[in-house]
Amino acid sequence: MIAAARTQVAIIGAGPAGLMLAHLLHESGIDSVVVETRDRAYVEGRVRAGVIEHHTASLLEEFGVGERMRREGLVHRGIELQFGQERHRIDFEELTGRTVTVYGQQEVVKDLIAARTRAGLELRFESEVVALELGAGDRAILRVRDAGGRETTIAADFIAGCDGFHGPSRAAIPPSAITLYEHVFPFAWLGILAESPPVSDELIYANNERGFALVSMRSRTVSRIYLQCRNDEDLARWPDDRIWAELRARLQSDGAADEIVEGRIFQKGVTPMRSFVCDPMRYGRLFLAGDSAHIVPPTGAKGMNLAIADVRILARAFESYFATGSSERLDRYSQTCLKRIWKTQRFSTYMTGLLHRFETHTPFDRRVQYAEFDYLRTSRAAAASLAESYVGLPFTEDARVLA
Ligand code: APR
Ligand code: PHB
Repeated sequence: MIAAARTQVAIIGAGPAGLMLAHLLHESGIDSVVVETRDRAYVEGRVRAGVIEHHTASLLEEFGVGERMRREGLVHRGIELQFGQERHRIDFEELTGRTVTVYGQQEVVKDLIAARTRAGLELRFESEVVALELGAGDRAILRVRDAGGRETTIAADFIAGCDGFHGPSRAAIPPSAITLYEHVFPFAWLGILAESPPVSDELIYANNERGFALVSMRSRTVSRIYLQCRNDEDLARWPDDRIWAELRARLQSDGAADEIVEGRIFQKGVTPMRSFVCDPMRYGRLFLAGDSAHIVPPTGAKGMNLAIADVRILARAFESYFATGSSERLDRYSQTCLKRIWKTQRFSTYMTGLLHRFETHTPFDRRVQYAEFDYLRTSRAAAASLAESYVGLPFTEDARVLA
């Protein structure tokens, strides 16, 4: 065991949650250390979703890490829903006055790492937290093993568990102190990145007899495409030709299908579909944020937005604690976050149910899906409800107030 360190907030994980929390704390003059198992290249290259809600984009800009997003991100004013051959556009700008920005999650991660590195602040890659000591007393301790196998400790007033679904922080909480809510969907998404110009200016979410398809993008030359697939899908069964043929079949429409340019596929992966919530998101000096506390299915791209909403609330609570000694906001953290998290679970479950093929569906269930689509096409209230959640519910500190 060598060297010990002391900080105000020890942060486990350099995903969007951990990095944004560190950034917000620094802006408030609070000291933190970020510890990340993986190396920088891995974290910066990890492909995830790419839709930034209105409020998330404003927050990134407000705190000086939104400049490249504004320059390179694509502002989207709506999405297309497609059932069979029928298309319907949901016009976010007209319905809510707001837009979203299409910008890859790993680009946000790169921007946050660059900001922290520029400021010369501590961010330890290839350093794995092997134990959390949360025993009574006025501090908590992290045991960290670096790339060379050396163990160090970090003592902190608080620990932020931003270590994703599989990290050690939630596992350090006695099971009797938390309730876990979980739902696993009976399908997954096969996702690709391809050197293809986007089929359409906006995202297309397609519900088709063959399964769901989503055509998204990363830039004017790179498409991000997802196809509903089996949970245990073997990528070897999906050569490039099959992916393009399946996409054409699921988009069905002569218009869009004709626009598909079969560029080089340079990334392929399978995204599982799961919903998960841990309640409460706190145990003594440990606070969970992001995927360590909750997972949403990717339909609607809410994962990173939720993670950023958590850490904004957590940063404010730490700020208030260190400025005044009052733990009132910290005590409310979990309750405040969970209100937003459950509303987002509701929306992600709704979008997933609206758009996918379920093996258990009867002809009755399919008719109800189509009726929902028809309702969205014909009712402004229905379309506005979808749009309001898609562009992002407002950030609010007050768990009781929505807008
Ligand atoms: N020690 C240090 N770091 C760890 C440890 C550990 N023992 N265990 C996990 N980590 C790191 C992981 O390597 C990962 O980089 O924690 C980080 C968690 O980052 P994310 O998985 O990106 O989670 P989060 O920051 O909450 O971001 C949520 O990411 O998974 C997507 O859909 C999700 O978009 C959402 C966003
Ligand atoms: C993406 O571009 O990766 C994306 C877009 C919309 C979603 C999910 C993922 O709903």
